[in-house]
Amino acid sequence: MNDNKLPIHVGIIMDGNGRWAKKRGLSRSIGHKMGAKNLKKLLKHIYKRNIKIVSIYAFSIENFKRDKKEVEYLMDLSIKFFTNELKTFMKEKIKVLFSGRKDNLRVDVINAMNELEENTKNNTKGILNICFNYSGQKEIVDAIKKIAMKINNNEITIDDINEDLVSENMYQVLPPLDFVIRTSGELRTSNFMIWESSYAEYYFPNTLFPDFNEKEFDIAIEEFQKRNRRFGGIINENENN
Ligand code: IPE
Ligand code: IPE
Ligand code: MG
Repeated sequence: MNDNKLPIHVGIIMDGNGRWAKKRGLSRSIGHKMGAKNLKKLLKHIYKRNIKIVSIYAFSIENFKRDKKEVEYLMDLSIKFFTNELKTFMKEKIKVLFSGRKDNLRVDVINAMNELEENTKNNTKGILNICFNYSGQKEIVDAIKKIAMKINNNEITIDDINEDLVSENMYQVLPPLDFVIRTSGELRTSNFMIWESSYAEYYFPNTLFPDFNEKEFDIAIEEFQKRNRRFGGIINENENN
C-alpha cells in the first residue's frame, strides 16, 4: 500500500443498501443494518490508513420522503450506532461531528447525537463528520442566514463576504473534500457537501454499500492517487498521466 498523496478529507455517499437487500429477497431494513455493519469495519480501516477526516452521508433531509416505517427504522438504527460505537471512537480517539439540521428530528435521536459529540469532543486522532438530516443547499442557506445576521448586528459588512467567510459559516470548519466516493453506481451528488467539494475528485464504484469493503476502499485510494489535480492550473510536468 502506497501512502503517497493520500487525501486529507474523504467523503462517502453510502448508497445501495436497499438494492443490496432486494437482490437477496430481503427487506430494505436488513440492507440498512448490513450497511451500518460495513461502516464500522470500513471506518476502522480508513483511519488505520492514515486518513484523518471522513465525512459520511448517513441521512438526507430528502430521505424523509420515504415510507414512515423505513424512516423510523433508520432513526432507531442510527441511535444504536451512535450509542454502541462510542467506545470505539474513544479507543481510536476519533472526534465525531454532526452536520445537518436538528430541529425536526426525534428527541431521542438528538440526544444520542449530542451525547456522542460531547463525549468525543476532545479526541484528536481523527474526525468523523456525520451528515445526518443534511442537505447541501440548506447548509448554504443556513450559512447565508448566519452571515446576514452578523451584518445586521454590525459585526461585519457586505464587503467582508468572500469564500473564506462563507466556509467559516458552514456547519463545520474543516479542510475541503479531496475525494468523494459514491457507491452503487449512481452518478450524482444528491446534495452532499456541494460547497465543500468544489475541487474534489469523484469516484463512482458500482458496488453496493454493504459490499464496499476495505479492499474496495484501497482500490478507490489507488485511483485517487493516479488523478492529476489541477485546480484550474496547468498539468504538472512531473506527472506522467
Ligand atoms: C442508502 O441506501 C442509505 C440511505 C439513503 C439512508 P438506499 O436506501 O438509498 O439504497 P437504494 O439506493 O434504495 O439501493
Ligand atoms: C443519498 O442517497 C443520501 C444518502 C446516501 C444518505 P439517496 O438514495 O437518498 O439519493 P437519490 O434519491 O438516489 O438521489
Ligand atoms: Mg439510494
